[in-house]
Amino acid sequence: MIVFLKKLIIKIERQIIKLILFFRKEIVSSSPPPSGIDKETVFKKVAEVPFWWHSIDLGYGIVAPGHQGGIKHPTGTKNLLRNLKFPNDLSGKSVLDIGAWDGFFSFEVEKRGASSVLAIDNFYRDKLEHTESQGFEVAKEILKSNVQFKKASVYDLSPEKFGMFDVVLFFGVFYHLKYPLLALEKIFSVTKEMLIMETHYDPYYGNKNTPLATFYEKDQINKDPTTWWGLNKACLFAILRTAGFREVKVVYRYADRIILKAYK
Ligand SMILES: C[S@@+](CC[C@H](N)C(=O)[O-])C[C@H]1O[C@@H](n2cnc3c(N)ncnc32)[C@H](O)[C@@H]1O
Repeated sequence: MIVFLKKLIIKIERQIIKLILFFRKEIVSSSPPPSGIDKETVFKKVAEVPFWWHSIDLGYGIVAPGHQGGIKHPTGTKNLLRNLKFPNDLSGKSVLDIGAWDGFFSFEVEKRGASSVLAIDNFYRDKLEHTESQGFEVAKEILKSNVQFKKASVYDLSPEKFGMFDVVLFFGVFYHLKYPLLALEKIFSVTKEMLIMETHYDPYYGNKNTPLATFYEKDQINKDPTTWWGLNKACLFAILRTAGFREVKVVYRYADRIILKAYK
């Protein structure tokens, strides 16, 4: 019954997304995307993707109807971008985006001058009945982007297989991992300068100086059975140092989310 309802909701959501796109089509601006693909084709390609996580501006005022932040408006992705306090100029930097999904952040760092960008994702989300890299491929084509995509898990990372990256992005993935320290050690091994990490965390522990972590056996957090860990701030700092990072800073905190920068 629950599975049936979930499928029904996803179906309805897709129809709503198509409807929203249909109306957005009428209010598009005139600037074409870097590929120069015509407006009708962009519209069609965007509508054909069954599920978008990111709201990506694809030209002509057409914005991929991302789930993050709601389907009506791309506030979620935009807000996160503002809070990340990304360097405006990433000229010459190599960037790795772990768990890139539709690639909003990969395309954003490319726009800011990154010399090479590798996006990886293991499509873990398929378990939640969404799609593989369909949105990423469509956005990449429309934006005429050079971002490379590899199907890989964070656990696969090693300098031998992937090389090293000046900046590593790790947004919204950490709490989905059963083996957090192993993942951070893998990330450390491919980081040259800095890791920027956005994650769910547990801000509610009494003793804020004691590193503590909650293990979510079921779907306590946002009814998501793929969220395993909620570390408090002290624990996040400790685990990042244990993985090898010499300095950790908080960039932003809101509700149960935190953004950190960790330096090698
Ligand atoms: C909540 S989404 C975050 C997407 C994007 N980074 C953002 O912040 O908007 C989590 C993403 O991490 C990916 N993911 C989960 N486990 C992973 C793993 N072990 N290795 C690589 N990607 C993973 C999922 O497939 C999904 O695309």
